[in-house]
Amino acid sequence: MSVVNHRVALKNLVSMEQLTNEDVLGLLSRGSEYKAGKVTLSDNKKHFVANLFFENSTRTHKSFEVAEKKLGLTVLDFNTDTSAVNKGETLYDTVLTMSALGTEICVIRHPEDEYYKELVESPTVTASIVNGGDGSGQHPSQCLLDLLTIYEEFGKFEGLKIAIAGDLTHSRVAKSNMQILKRLGAELYFYGPEEWYASEFDDYGTYVAIDQIIDELDVLMLLRVQHERHDGRQSFSKEAYHRQFGLTKERYKSLKASAIIMHPAPVNRDVEIADSLVEAPKARIVTQMANGVFVRMAIIEAILNGRSEK
Ligand code: CP
Repeated sequence: MSVVNHRVALKNLVSMEQLTNEDVLGLLSRGSEYKAGKVTLSDNKKHFVANLFFENSTRTHKSFEVAEKKLGLTVLDFNTDTSAVNKGETLYDTVLTMSALGTEICVIRHPEDEYYKELVESPTVTASIVNGGDGSGQHPSQCLLDLLTIYEEFGKFEGLKIAIAGDLTHSRVAKSNMQILKRLGAELYFYGPEEWYASEFDDYGTYVAIDQIIDELDVLMLLRVQHERHDGRQSFSKEAYHRQFGLTKERYKSLKASAIIMHPAPVNRDVEIADSLVEAPKARIVTQMANGVFVRMAIIEAILNGRSEK
């Protein structure tokens, strides 16, 4: 299956599950066009967008902002520390207020799984919701930038052997990627600590030991150990995790010449991946970050398309 010229129009983007394969490939195609500088940018000043981040972020927050500014939208400043959130305003009331002010798109990151449900079902919230990550739920823009990075490398998804590795149960990146990668024909493997694996993953791939599969992989997708979701329970020392589950310098040597390494970042250096490998020849971590801007331009454009069709 290859990327296609398909005009994508979305009311909201909250989960990869809502997208057809054609939508996904259309967004990747458009992201590639933005990356290649092939799109004539129009004047979008009249469209207001707010990035509401209730959890910390560097990449998602700032690359959405860059994408929105490249597209010429008017980006509203919003900071939870200086907003009425500090006086107890709920997420619903913040977004309702943004809608009332004429904000057309709210990009939201929030620690609660599926925080977006009551927003997209509300008849009075008129803003489109773009999910910048919900708890351990979904992270669709990260998933799309991951797909673009894989597609740029291999020109296909069918038959690729891809391992998703590490803190699986807490990872919205794993959950977004496993469903769509399976749908697009990839062969999936999982590995990591047993306590961070759940039977829900069995529907998408095979749980293996890293050293059993590493020399066959096309893509090794490492996940961040999400300390903030472990309630202070720390079952591994950094060294033990790295030795058992991380990409060590020795394991790197076992990868195929054509294999690539991915990580959504931020990286815990010397935990998921050896410090010296973060920018190694097979690593695509910096490419992922760069691709985030172009994929997010495609997402924002798809939302504007969807709103213009109402
Ligand atoms: N990959 C990712 O979501 O990074 P941020 O938390 O910095 O947005």
